[in-house]
Amino acid sequence: MTEVTAEENIVETTNLVKFYGKKCVVYNLNLSVPKGGIFGFLGPNGAGKSTTIKMLLGLLRPTSGQIKIFGKNLKAARVDILKRVGYLPEKPILYEKMTVLQFVTFMARLHGVKKNPKKRALEMLDFFGVGKHILSQCRELSAGQRQRVGLAQAFVHDPEFIILDEPTTNLDPLGRMQIFEKLRYLVEEENKTIFISSHILPEIERLCDYVGVINQGTLVASGSLGEIIAKTVNNEFVIVVDRPNILMRKIGELPYILQSNEKDYQVIVSVDPEHVKAFVKDVMNIIMENDMLLKSFKPLYMPIEKMFIDALGIRSKSELENVME
Ligand SMILES: Nc1ncnc2c1ncn2[C@@H]1O[C@H](COP(=O)(O)OP(=O)(O)OP(=O)(O)O)[C@@H](O)[C@H]1O
Ligand SMILES: [Mg+2]
Repeated sequence: MTEVTAEENIVETTNLVKFYGKKCVVYNLNLSVPKGGIFGFLGPNGAGKSTTIKMLLGLLRPTSGQIKIFGKNLKAARVDILKRVGYLPEKPILYEKMTVLQFVTFMARLHGVKKNPKKRALEMLDFFGVGKHILSQCRELSAGQRQRVGLAQAFVHDPEFIILDEPTTNLDPLGRMQIFEKLRYLVEEENKTIFISSHILPEIERLCDYVGVINQGTLVASGSLGEIIAKTVNNEFVIVVDRPNILMRKIGELPYILQSNEKDYQVIVSVDPEHVKAFVKDVMNIIMENDMLLKSFKPLYMPIEKMFIDALGIRSKSELENVME
């Protein structure tokens, strides 16, 4: 894990605990969010992501533990801290009867934007691609448009730290890509720190610099994306060739294969982790010696999926899909 000093962390929680009645949903959570970059907060449904986020924003009182944001105690300096924080809730709360522009201008004023709040609102709506809809009433918006308006209001007061609770659930694939580009721009060009919760693993892998995985209220893995990728040992592979039957037969003769099967022209192989290098070499030899056409040879899981699988003790791709749906 990256060594980060307290000064470089935007968020530090110490033994954070939250009970709802007798039910413990966050347990001894020690979370460090480094300054700059995008931090992906990953976890299955009900893991405690939104509960943690609400505690970071002072919207929910922790049962015990400490939260520091910008190096200050949240309890003691709540108002000062929250001026510098933006938030997009899981379900964006908009004022339904206002127009989009009225709403975001109102939010700008509420957050203390003194100099031309309407101009700032327009800029942010344009930035997040709501241009056409600024004069529509909020209640007329589609789910994806609401999310974009929610993003515009989260950034309208130019906060340093922005918490986005599942910001892309309602966006189409193109919309997601556009929003990712915008978030990246804000981090690179405007030095923002963005904290984003999600259960879409490939999305986090593409977008984030740091990752924390929460399960049943406990942090089960964390680190920079680079470290995660470097540490990942993938021992399961998917191979596509023109003659999978021959490949299956030849692979079956290798001594370190744990499991192999063919499904829909794809050969899926699980290898003893100690012999991954030999496996890659042997497969290439089999392909060349048998004059096969190699169409694809890739790990079964992306690094972040693998990290998630290891952290949660998941045993198969279908179990992973069930957990993350
Ligand atoms: N107000 C509440 N009262 C009682 N239990 C609650 C309350 N809010 C959340 N919970 C429970 O706390 C646990 C964590 O919920 P939370 O909303 O933090 O999960 P999450 O990780 O954000 O999940 P999702 O991915 O579905 O958004 C869940 O078991 C949920 O049922
Ligand atoms: Mg949630």
